[in-house]
Amino acid sequence: MQEAIQVAGSRPRSSRTSQAWNARPQLPDTHYVDSAIYTDPAIFAEEMEKIWRKSWLPVCHESELPDPLDYRSLGTFSNTPIVVVRGSDRTVRTFLNICPHRANRIVRSPSGNLGVAEPSGNPKNMTCMFHGWQFDATGRCVEIPREKAGYQERVCKAGVGLREIRTEIAHGGFVWVTLDDDAGPLADFTGNAFDFMASELDTEPLEIFHYQKSLVKTNYKLWHETSREFYHDYLHYHNRATGMLQPGYFDRKYTVFNNGHAATGLTTINYEAYDGSKERVLTFPGMPKNGWKQLNIFPGCTYSLRASCLRVSVMTPISENEVLIELRGLGLKADTAAEREQRILDHDTIWGPFGRNLHEDLLVVQQQKVAMQPGSGSRFLLMAREENETIHDEIGLRSYYAEWAKRMGRPASRP
Ligand code: FES
Ligand SMILES: [Fe+2]
Repeated sequence: MQEAIQVAGSRPRSSRTSQAWNARPQLPDTHYVDSAIYTDPAIFAEEMEKIWRKSWLPVCHESELPDPLDYRSLGTFSNTPIVVVRGSDRTVRTFLNICPHRANRIVRSPSGNLGVAEPSGNPKNMTCMFHGWQFDATGRCVEIPREKAGYQERVCKAGVGLREIRTEIAHGGFVWVTLDDDAGPLADFTGNAFDFMASELDTEPLEIFHYQKSLVKTNYKLWHETSREFYHDYLHYHNRATGMLQPGYFDRKYTVFNNGHAATGLTTINYEAYDGSKERVLTFPGMPKNGWKQLNIFPGCTYSLRASCLRVSVMTPISENEVLIELRGLGLKADTAAEREQRILDHDTIWGPFGRNLHEDLLVVQQQKVAMQPGSGSRFLLMAREENETIHDEIGLRSYYAEWAKRMGRPASRP
């Protein structure tokens, strides 16, 4: 146990002097982190390069692109604008949303259809408004205004297509992409992490019914950590009332996988214990009623399935001080109108803009950032709870930082 340090001549005390406050915890390097990982811009830049630009990440759901030529664009994805397009052949492809001519961003709307006319150009193509170069839904350059007059044979359409990004649709119909052409297939990256949720996600098509995004003034890891550790059940009234009081709640198993992924096993929740809620009879294929299971994918995605509704949280780090969080709620594509209404109601009880848990989590991650302002000295954040890999064991945090250490070449306790 860490002892309080007594300053010569002073009374013994259990609050700490600055010397004791700044001392490293007497714990293994794997059981705490240094707050510099949340505040140092150089570490953030290194994370983008060694972690984010080398991982597979989900960027949207296939049901957001139901028709040929539908697109979704992201203003920033690991510091790069991208656009996801469903082709006329129904294949979903992803491209850097950057014009090969003079690096203008091409598609400016967050979503739409390339068959709908826009003032900036040909309706069937991605048209750069700067000098009018056009690209089709396969990334081919199909128009360079006055091409021969200016370039003769030196630059031609065949040589200036868009940069395509590797794209796979998997794990409940999400569109996963990686900027790393040398990465293995998505299946190698996710490994067997999704096995325990496979029947729920992949038996029949899912459909998005809720989308919300927030720019949050915190470091992205602090947000993700709220999905990785459940000891903060104490923060959430909903979890206290519906979960912690249930017999067997603390036996819920925590499982870690290769590549930094981690899952919290199935448990049964007493949804009726929350005012205005009732038991959740609607589920997903293979999911028992009132169940809850959750999966965290490195470096920043969470699938949380609470019986009737799936919530998927995806992060886009903006800087060491800011993160864009996209939250999606999903049900089954085959839902009746009444089923869909119930799923939306269940979803919004906890996760909607007026839900219970979301704000509580947002509050603490921003308060943590307030307590770690640059120049205020290092803080050591503990992740030292060990409880036989059950729900309040902080093994999920440790597995995250084991992968972080592997990618960054040093432990997060000594960054
Ligand atoms: S920058 Fe796109 S056409 Fe010139
Ligand atoms: Fe939380």
